[in-house]
Amino acid sequence: MMTTPSEPDVPVADLGQSELFQKVADICSVVNSVLDPQDLLDISLRRVMGLFGANRGSIFIFSPEDDTLRLRVSVGLKMEEKDRMTKRMGQGIVGRVAEEKKPVIVQDIENDRRFSNFKARKAYSSGSFICVPLMLKAELIGVINISDKISGHRFVDEELQLLDFLASQIALNYRRIILYAKFREIVKESRDLRDQLGASGREKEYLKRQVDIQERLATIGKLAGGIAHEFNNPLDGVMRYTNLCLRHTHNDEVLRGYLMEIQQGLRRMANIVRNLLACSRSEHLATTRVDLKGLLERCAGSLRAEQESRNITINCDIPDGLPPIVDLGIERVFSNLLRNALDSIDRDGKVDISVRLGPDEMEIIVRDSGKGIPPDHIEQIFEPFFTTKDIDKGCGLGLTIVGEIIKAYRGRIGVESRPESGAVFTIVLPAHKIL
Ligand SMILES: Nc1ncnc2c1ncn2[C@@H]1O[C@H](COP(=O)(O)OP(=O)(O)O)[C@@H](O)[C@H]1O
Ligand SMILES: [Mg+2]
Repeated sequence: MMTTPSEPDVPVADLGQSELFQKVADICSVVNSVLDPQDLLDISLRRVMGLFGANRGSIFIFSPEDDTLRLRVSVGLKMEEKDRMTKRMGQGIVGRVAEEKKPVIVQDIENDRRFSNFKARKAYSSGSFICVPLMLKAELIGVINISDKISGHRFVDEELQLLDFLASQIALNYRRIILYAKFREIVKESRDLRDQLGASGREKEYLKRQVDIQERLATIGKLAGGIAHEFNNPLDGVMRYTNLCLRHTHNDEVLRGYLMEIQQGLRRMANIVRNLLACSRSEHLATTRVDLKGLLERCAGSLRAEQESRNITINCDIPDGLPPIVDLGIERVFSNLLRNALDSIDRDGKVDISVRLGPDEMEIIVRDSGKGIPPDHIEQIFEPFFTTKDIDKGCGLGLTIVGEIIKAYRGRIGVESRPESGAVFTIVLPAHKIL
């Protein structure tokens, strides 16, 4: 605390201890209940001036954006003083108190050596004043300045300490009010948003459905976690023993045939577990890159072989020289889309896969000539467990997984379809995420 050696002087307005305590308690309870920042500053200043019996006072508030102090309330200030409403840090006594974050008591400005180089000191009409920073822990909120006692007496150290305490109350409440106002603003914004959304029934319906989907995905996530935990180890063991048996049955073709059936079944089970896990995982660790053209042609090739008995052509129109892309499970995207495309074709038909690389995005289109998707299904096909297929053909997780993987790329997937004229799935991947 910066003080000059104090001369004997008159203490706080001659109040008795209990009277003083009562006044201070009154000020605290008033500043605690105000809800407007300007009201807080007005009331605090008037009450504090009343307590000290002062004629003049002011409160400046610090604005961190431009490092200045702005006069927010004053009593008894002359017009020309009011003109100097903004102070830089370090400027004048207020600026200095703010900069040093220390209270100052001045008994007689004219004879105070600390301020002998202050040009403006002649402008201080009263010689004695106290000036205290409004602090919240180490953070500067502003500065309060009290001067010109009605009694004509000088300020004393006890008064400085008292003002220091009251300043901490004012600072705390100023921050409380600002935070409260911000909180109210946020509440209002979220209410407005909710009202806006509520205004449109369709949007409400859409949001409800999104929440529904998120809930179902969360359930699948939990389920998949459980399944993975319970299944993985025994599945691994059965697979290993099956492989061992296969190695020891060179001569017994019948037994070998049975074991190979078991092996295939086990692989499918392992696949399902992996797919369910893909649903539950929101973040994939990308460590490898894949050649998209090679991958798409391989997918198409293996399905072509599978569909030999049907008259379906699968065309790939993919430019050479595509950069290798980060693998976040992209193969599962196309195996699911192509399988759906093939499922949608009754007898004859075709599937076209094309890729176009733009400066910012890569677009991949899978188009089929199947039976298409009815309009009332199109919004649901990405939902978990939505399926129009028999239980042995689909469980309705294919497109959910596709959607999750595309989300991991921060990409988009869209679908267009007219009944009886096939479906077109368009995937857009942002280049900076994949390359
Ligand atoms: N290419 C398509 N043509 C027509 N319908 C489709 C196509 N792709 C998806 N669908 C519809 O979307 C549903 C959900 O697909 P999906 O999530 O892959 O699950 P599943 O294939 O197991 O049914 C399908 O049952 C089908 O009705
Ligand atoms: Mg499917």
